[in-house]
Amino acid sequence: MSATSPVRAVLPPDIRARKGGVPLVVLTAYSTPVARLVDAHCDVVLVGDSVGMVIHGLPSTLGVTLEMMILHGRAVVRGAQKAMPVIDMPFGSYEEGPQQAFRNASRLMAETGAPAVKLEGGVHMAETIAFLTARGVPVMAHVGLTPQAVNTLGGYKVVGRDAEAAKVMADAKAVEAAGAFSVVLEKVPMGLAAKITRALTIPTIGIGAGRDCDGQVLVVDDMLGLFTDFRPKFVKRYAELGKAADEAIAAYAAEVRSGAFPAEEHSFPDILPVKK
Ligand code: KIV
Repeated sequence: MSATSPVRAVLPPDIRARKGGVPLVVLTAYSTPVARLVDAHCDVVLVGDSVGMVIHGLPSTLGVTLEMMILHGRAVVRGAQKAMPVIDMPFGSYEEGPQQAFRNASRLMAETGAPAVKLEGGVHMAETIAFLTARGVPVMAHVGLTPQAVNTLGGYKVVGRDAEAAKVMADAKAVEAAGAFSVVLEKVPMGLAAKITRALTIPTIGIGAGRDCDGQVLVVDDMLGLFTDFRPKFVKRYAELGKAADEAIAAYAAEVRSGAFPAEEHSFPDILPVKK
């Protein structure tokens, strides 16, 4: 996107058209500097409501507000030139019905500049997804483990083993029929995720759903080793930035205490001699 262009280079129909092609690369971001890093390598940058846990120290995503998503969304959109931003609708901002969902989705898009939203739910959200897409709000859906439903699901468990598999398939087909341009499959057994991917004409984006999805998403703080409170099996650590930051902060603290920092090169010389 150029500074003068009102339209982003990559929009939801472009992401939808990637079905079955080179896998879509998706990471979360919550700030401008991280969005710039993600932008250089990814197709989609997701402003996930995981922000509540990894940045704000909340115990789950349930306490995330629309205002938080707008603030982080704005920061990410500023840093994403090439990758397409998608913003999560937080818990309580869309479940009442299509009108509430439209009111809040349109605020997210208008106040951040993001061209799409993501919301959790399958069959029971189909009416809302259809309402939004018919009114200019592209929707990325999210089925399988839906973290905003952690209390009804009974924890962050794999969803879709045995009898539940048919429900996850029905959810995925319902969001596609309702007009979602893509769907996140979270913590779904890999065979089922492959079957859903074959059954749909929109891209599936897996997180803990095996390699046969049309794309993959991870929480950036997880894969960089910055968020270490817990580590789901599906997270591969590509760096240990938390450990590197801990070592750097320990070295700074030791140097301040010993007087080794600041050295002369970090200080400003006086112009006039200073009387002691
Ligand atoms: O909130 C989030 O970061 C997400 C991804 C994990 C898919 O929904």
